[in-house]
Amino acid sequence: MAKHLLTISDLTKAEIEAVFEKTKIFKERQKSGIPHQPLLGKTITLIFEKVSTRTRVSFETAMYQLGGNAIFISQRDSQIGRGEPIKDTARVLSRYVDGIVIRTFGHDIVEEFARYSSVPVINGLTDLHHPCQVLTDVFTIVEKKGGCKGLKVAWIGDGNNMANSWIEAAARMSFDLMLACPDGYLPDKDILERAKKDAKSRIEIVKNPKDAAKDADVLNTDVWASMGQEDEAEKREKAFKGYQINSDLLKLAKKDAVVMHCLPAHRGEEITDDIMEGPNSVVFDQAENRLHVQKVILEKLLT
Ligand code: CP
Ligand code: NVA
Repeated sequence: MAKHLLTISDLTKAEIEAVFEKTKIFKERQKSGIPHQPLLGKTITLIFEKVSTRTRVSFETAMYQLGGNAIFISQRDSQIGRGEPIKDTARVLSRYVDGIVIRTFGHDIVEEFARYSSVPVINGLTDLHHPCQVLTDVFTIVEKKGGCKGLKVAWIGDGNNMANSWIEAAARMSFDLMLACPDGYLPDKDILERAKKDAKSRIEIVKNPKDAAKDADVLNTDVWASMGQEDEAEKREKAFKGYQINSDLLKLAKKDAVVMHCLPAHRGEEITDDIMEGPNSVVFDQAENRLHVQKVILEKLLT
């Protein structure tokens, strides 16, 4: 496995499959209350320049359950907020801790951090990628459907960090991905081109959410305005009108389709409340699995 986990493409298909196999074992072990503490004496730090509920708590809990320790610092209470260079911060923290999880804005920031860090760096979300979430989501599909190869996954809405990571995941894991995005809100062009070249499955952008949802095995969405785009919320609300997972859209998908959302969700915008709470929704299993998948990632990168 590569030293750092910054994007889904940092992992091979075989490595992702190995993560999933181990996640199943870790999850069962935890449910039976059997302790497993391979990271005894190890510490990670979480550096978060954006807020978080799931990523922070699942990583901190994962470390404690594995016998280690986690230190959370936000921009506000570290020298990063006062302009200490990334390359200095990375070299200093590397001398204290065994791994670093970063949530920030520009993807170049985690790349620079990783370049100067002598310990593994894990991307906990940037404007461009959200690999830990999408790895977990694909694990959740495998858990629910027995596999992901050949399935049709629909993405409804913004071509954002989540969409970019889904595109990389589709290329790696050979499922079809149809993304319905409005004009002006398409996924990253380079990521899309690279993935299409590598993929054995179909990765396609369409405009109409109905085309994406038709016969889909998975319906997937995310907020219309991501963190850092709060000022654009009003404009985005107009642009994304109709890009919503609701009962009409769900009817077009396969009967046993699962509905996913990385959360937090804005009910009434990208997804309706009845779908969030309905029988097809797997959003809370998805959220739980962050813990199990990340425990495996931490063990693999830190030992
Ligand atoms: N899905 C996700 O990353 O959630 P948080 O922003 O709460 O970490
Ligand atoms: N696209 C969202 C994901 C949140 C987990 C954001 O970046 O805010």
